[in-house]
Amino acid sequence: MIEEINKNLELLDLERIKEILPDYIHKTAKNPKPLSESLNYLLSEEIKYKNERAAKGIIKAANFPFCKTIDDYDFSFQPSVNENQIKELCNLSFVENHENIIFVGNPGVGKTHLAVALGIEAAKHRNSVYFITCHNLMIKLNKAQKENRLDKQLQHLAQYKVLIIDEIGYLPVDHQGSNLFFQLIAKRYMTKSTIVTTNMPFSRWGEVFSDNTLADAVLDRLLHYSHIIRITGNSYRVKDKIVETDSRSNDYNE
Ligand SMILES: Nc1ncnc2c1ncn2[C@@H]1O[C@H](COP(=O)(O)OP(=O)(O)O)[C@@H](O)[C@H]1O
Ligand SMILES: [Mg+2]
Repeated sequence: MIEEINKNLELLDLERIKEILPDYIHKTAKNPKPLSESLNYLLSEEIKYKNERAAKGIIKAANFPFCKTIDDYDFSFQPSVNENQIKELCNLSFVENHENIIFVGNPGVGKTHLAVALGIEAAKHRNSVYFITCHNLMIKLNKAQKENRLDKQLQHLAQYKVLIIDEIGYLPVDHQGSNLFFQLIAKRYMTKSTIVTTNMPFSRWGEVFSDNTLADAVLDRLLHYSHIIRITGNSYRVKDKIVETDSRSNDYNE
C-alpha cells in the first residue's frame, strides 16, 4: 500500500508529504487522528514546503548583491528611518497597489540594505523580484537596442512584480539611456512596483539624466504613487571604521 501511495505522491509532485508520511503514519498509529485533521496537516506541510522552495528560487534569480533582511537593520543607528513605516511596507500592500518606494540619502545609510530587505519579503510571498544597478540597467537596455530586441527586453523587465533599481545618480546617464529608462518606468507605471535608491535630491535628476524634461517625466511616473524615504543619518560603513579605529587606538594605548 505505502508503495502505491508513494508512487501517487510522486506523480502529484507532493514531495514533502512523501517525506513525512512514514513517520506520520507511525506516530498516528499510536494516537489516531480524524482523517480531516491528518489531511489538513499533510497538505499544509506541502504548501509550506512549496512556498519556501519557490521563495528560494525567486531570491536566487533576483540578483541581490547580498541577502540582508529587515531584522538585520539596526533602526537605533538610523533614527531618521521610521521603523513603523518600514514594517508596514513589509506587509507588501505596496506590491498589491503597484506603488513605488524611493530611498534617498547619502552613501552608507542603508538604502540598498532596505531595498533588498523589502525585495526578500516580496519574494517570500512569491512575488517575482529583480535587482539591478542603474548603471547595469543602462548597459542591458543599450545592448538590447543595438541588437534590435529592445521591446522584448523592456517587456521582460516590465513583468517583475518588484524591480529594484539601485544607485540612481552615482553615474550620469546619457540622453539615449535616459530615453530607454523612461520607457521602462512608463511601462511599469501603475501596473508594477519599482523600488529605487538614489543619493541625488530630485531637484538634481536633470543632471543625472542629462535632460530636464526626461528627468521630470521619469520623476512624474515614479513619484505619483510612491513612498519616499529620506535617510539623513551617518554612514554605517563609516561607523564600522570609527569602531575599528577606536579599538586600534585602545590596543595601542594598552
Ligand atoms: N542601520 C543599519 N543597520 C545594520 N546594517 C546597516 C545599517 N545601515 C547600513 N548597514 C550596512 O552597511 C552597509 C552599507 O549599507 P548600504 O545599504 O549598502 O548603504 P547605501 O546603499 O545607502 O550606500 C551594508 O552592509 C548594510 O547592510
Ligand atoms: Mg547602495
